[in-house]
Amino acid sequence: MKTVIKNISELVQTEETPKKWVAGADMNKLNTIKDAFVEIEDGIITDFGSMDVWIGIDDWNNTEIIDAEGGMVFPTYCDSHTHLVFAASREGEFVDRINGLNYEDIAKRGGGILNSAEKLQNTSEDQLFEDALVRLNELVKMGTGAVEIKSGYGLTLDAELKILRVIKRLKEHSDVTIKSTFLGAHALPNEYKDNKDGYMDLVINEILPKVAEEKLADYVDIFCEKGYFTVDDTKRLLEAASKFGIKAKTHVNQFNAIGGVKASVDLGALSVDHLEEMNEDDFDALKNSDCMPTILPACSFFLGIPYGPAKEMIKRGLPVALATDYNPGSAPSGNMNFVASLGCIQMKMTPEEVVNATTINAAYAMGIEKELGSICIGKKANLFITKPIPSYAYLPYEFGHNVIDRVILNGRMQ
Ligand code: NIG
Ligand code: FE
Repeated sequence: MKTVIKNISELVQTEETPKKWVAGADMNKLNTIKDAFVEIEDGIITDFGSMDVWIGIDDWNNTEIIDAEGGMVFPTYCDSHTHLVFAASREGEFVDRINGLNYEDIAKRGGGILNSAEKLQNTSEDQLFEDALVRLNELVKMGTGAVEIKSGYGLTLDAELKILRVIKRLKEHSDVTIKSTFLGAHALPNEYKDNKDGYMDLVINEILPKVAEEKLADYVDIFCEKGYFTVDDTKRLLEAASKFGIKAKTHVNQFNAIGGVKASVDLGALSVDHLEEMNEDDFDALKNSDCMPTILPACSFFLGIPYGPAKEMIKRGLPVALATDYNPGSAPSGNMNFVASLGCIQMKMTPEEVVNATTINAAYAMGIEKELGSICIGKKANLFITKPIPSYAYLPYEFGHNVIDRVILNGRMQ
């Protein structure tokens, strides 16, 4: 069965040959085709181009026509950093912050990640799955077609495996392309508060081998931060994970630059995420590496902390990806349109840079750049059709709105 989308006012982020990522000044370039069509077969993009060169329909019986009605078509967003599986919201802490406490104060009082872990440990796998599926379907409506999801609200063998099994079920039940990440080293559980090495032993010697054996994680992660886990913990974990062939995507430089970027890059991390605080050594470590710097502006917005220096990275010739960090504590929104707006408004990225950062570069940051992240022959037909809008800049411009009309994943209308 073939599908043809016609009457597309502008087809955005087209690619002739698949690229790894876009970096530096190239991030400001975006290929588009005005008055275009896209052809899809068996969930894969088989052709696209200007309506002028469209050869028309050869087999009417086996072709479905979708009329874009003058809307634009974009590849769906790739959200390369989320904590989508969680048990409960944390708006109480949100109110505490309004009243003057900060993220660290709240964590010290037993709130934060430990609060989420306690709730998750007492929630069934089925309940977690149902709640996460509802969230995932909401993200699809907002144009997301690929998501990385982390564990890290379990912090025990059983609870970490429970989250990763939920993610596995989501992979089986959704058209969204999903990657899972084992984040056992997210916070130190109370039982280990004076025994961090003991907890790292548990993560590395007991949980990680089980996760690897059951093939529950595509990636490994650690919160490398003062008061959480050190650079040495990070090295230990990444070395152990690499023995199982599992690459890292790490939480680094959210509040302090302590060397997590270099340690992650040296150990072959696919991405380093957060990067609100960056120093010269961090920029140097990223230069000429294969690691994608990933910025999470919704977390900066929500916590009132600095935004990662996207423009500085681009100026230095680096690539940049943007993701939501969707989680109940520091970014309770999975809306990539809002992330795109923050990229433009708060970080002064151009609309072209933001499109590249949320599609092809974010696809690289989750290891799926060969299958997603652009409109390219042979890639998956994951795309969204907008309402009629005057230009692609309108999408980040009209912040807080959803201009997305229809979403197609694997060639199927959602
Ligand atoms: O990416 N920084 C560490 N982890 C999450 C927040 C977790 C939470 O507060 O629940 C983040 O911001
Ligand atoms: Fe995060």
